[in-house]
Amino acid sequence: MSAPQPRPGILEIRPYVGGESHLPGHDRVIKLASNESALGPSPAAMAALAGWATEMHRYPDGGSTMLREGLAKHYGLDPERIVCGAGSDELIALLVRTYVGPGDEVLYSRHGFMMYPIAAKTAGAAAVAAPESDLTTDVDAMLARVTDKTRIVFLANPNNPTGTYISAEEVRRLHAGLPSTVLLAIDAAYAEFVTRNDYEPGIELVNAAQNVVMLRTFSKIYALGGLRLGWAYCSAPIADALNRVRSPFNVNAAAQAAGVAALGDVASVDRARAHNDVWLPWFTRELQALGLTVNPSVGNFVIVRFPDAPSRNADAAFAHLQSRGILTRKMGGYGLPEWLRITIGTEDEMRVVVAAIAAFLAPS
Ligand SMILES: Cc1ncc(COP(=O)(O)O)c(C=O)c1O
Repeated sequence: MSAPQPRPGILEIRPYVGGESHLPGHDRVIKLASNESALGPSPAAMAALAGWATEMHRYPDGGSTMLREGLAKHYGLDPERIVCGAGSDELIALLVRTYVGPGDEVLYSRHGFMMYPIAAKTAGAAAVAAPESDLTTDVDAMLARVTDKTRIVFLANPNNPTGTYISAEEVRRLHAGLPSTVLLAIDAAYAEFVTRNDYEPGIELVNAAQNVVMLRTFSKIYALGGLRLGWAYCSAPIADALNRVRSPFNVNAAAQAAGVAALGDVASVDRARAHNDVWLPWFTRELQALGLTVNPSVGNFVIVRFPDAPSRNADAAFAHLQSRGILTRKMGGYGLPEWLRITIGTEDEMRVVVAAIAAFLAPS
């Protein structure tokens, strides 16, 4: 019997699998699978959300005006060149929907964030992966793969899941090597966690060029992942195109209200960054002391390489941690099956995880 068929390429998409939240049989789960903030949302954001409850029957402001103005003030930007979305995931999809069609190419680095190839395939485009050096974007390898079909180059900086970043100078070199018709999308989801002085999230390049977009999110340091809120900063023509394509009420009212409040709560963001500055290096050192390889990370997560022996490998470690109520993320989908990704949690959570991994690796 004939049935409706999805467009060519759709059934080749491997659906994105998010981190798990619940474990049957465990009342208390330590969730370190989705790079969520260890410290939870800002009290100001929680209050704003509660205040919105009686207004739920109202449509949101379709232009996210207060939020864009808040962002513009906070970062010194032009509000007309900010476009908000239901998470940066929506903005990744929106960029592809706006600039990419069947037969085109979308370029990203080999272990770049998985939503880039998924979004490309939804448009009937080819997702082209450039090799990396030391699990880090290789600008020359990226540039070598640009063709006359390339429409967007996605750069996650820092990258999830590897945790690595490239310097502002390297990003400028990548941009300088691209034709002006190719869009460079710099996804800086973890920008606020980075404390390196050669890093820049993309604002300078957006200000200097017409073909650059910077993507940001409220899901990570701002701890609003459940509300779905992200934003893009770009040239006026790109903002205009995105505003034509997005749905009119793409950002819900609760997310807008909480986002404005979270932005004003600088102390919460500083606390989250200070927490990461302590526990990211601590966790890295503890795992290294257990003999594991930890890829150097500037985000709020690390990838950890486990031994090859079946009883000690990443799958066995994942199962062991899960049996203790600890959720981490498998990396097979990224072509890194020997590694697990673990988010930086609270101090208690980090200590429990280190003890659990030590027990897992101990000779039986
Ligand atoms: C690099 C990167 N970009 C974008 C996202 C999507 O974030 P959002 O929750 O804003 O859709 C993530 C989330 O894990 C990410 O790691």
